[in-house]
Amino acid sequence: MPVPPLLALRGIRKRFGAVEALADVELEIRAGEIVALMGDNGAGKSTLVKVIAGVSPADEGVVRWEGRTVRVRRPHEAHALGIATVFQDLALCDNLDVVGNLFLGRELRRAGLLDEVEMERRTRDLLGSLAIHVPDLRARVATLSGGQRQTVAISRSLVGEPRLLLLDEPTAALGVQQTSRFLDLVEMLRDRGVGVLLISQNMGDIKAVADRVAVLHLGRNNGFFDVSTASQEQIISSITGVTSPPGATRRTAHARRGER
Ligand SMILES: Nc1ncnc2c1ncn2[C@@H]1O[C@H](COP(=O)(O)OP(=O)(O)O)[C@@H](O)[C@H]1O
Ligand SMILES: [Mg+2]
Repeated sequence: MPVPPLLALRGIRKRFGAVEALADVELEIRAGEIVALMGDNGAGKSTLVKVIAGVSPADEGVVRWEGRTVRVRRPHEAHALGIATVFQDLALCDNLDVVGNLFLGRELRRAGLLDEVEMERRTRDLLGSLAIHVPDLRARVATLSGGQRQTVAISRSLVGEPRLLLLDEPTAALGVQQTSRFLDLVEMLRDRGVGVLLISQNMGDIKAVADRVAVLHLGRNNGFFDVSTASQEQIISSITGVTSPPGATRRTAHARRGER
């Protein structure tokens, strides 16, 4: 029997009032694979991430985890499966330091008191194992640069050793060198067997690290590509909606015939 994907979505639908943010969306992510989720602004990428993370559950659809249908309607249900997320807005606490952010909501205690020494030690170990350098673990994150804040947000998502990592435009605020270091980190996690969903508008980043690309256009799937064989032009046409996958084309033609 083939190994089922880590995560499989079928028929995901999500509305915000009159806006149909996601319609009939499907997606699969395997362990040890980087899937890029691409699409124009408003295509529904962040909405899909929030569905998977249990932050903003779907109105309809099925979520399967290693082949089993699961409920992911609350963030803790996603965490329990091993799903970690870096949201587009990072969601860091500016008034806390690096250690405080990493352990927010899962603070370590000793004899009823916060075990700051142990949390700092684990933070240092985690960052070290990921080859991440943050100059001062006790600096409030408000004082850090965009790239450092990004690093803290990513490190926080890795505290529980997730099996699936959702990254919503993680490189948007990074410089060239930081981006390259970040992509190395994502590849390292992939090589350790983590499944990664990487949202990015940067074709260069995607070509460099992703295995597959899933494109959303106006809240619908608009093509799946193998990065090693698809051309940049094919992917861009699908992002801009110039081309549709075969099924969608047939439906459109059928609808047009129906109008006549
Ligand atoms: N909380 C919300 N309330 C109302 N509309 C929303 C909300 N979140 C997203 N949308 C709408 O859903 C669509 C998809 O948005 P989003 O998922 O943020 O797109 P992307 O991340 O691909 O840019 C957009 O039309 C957006 O305005
Ligand atoms: Mg977004």
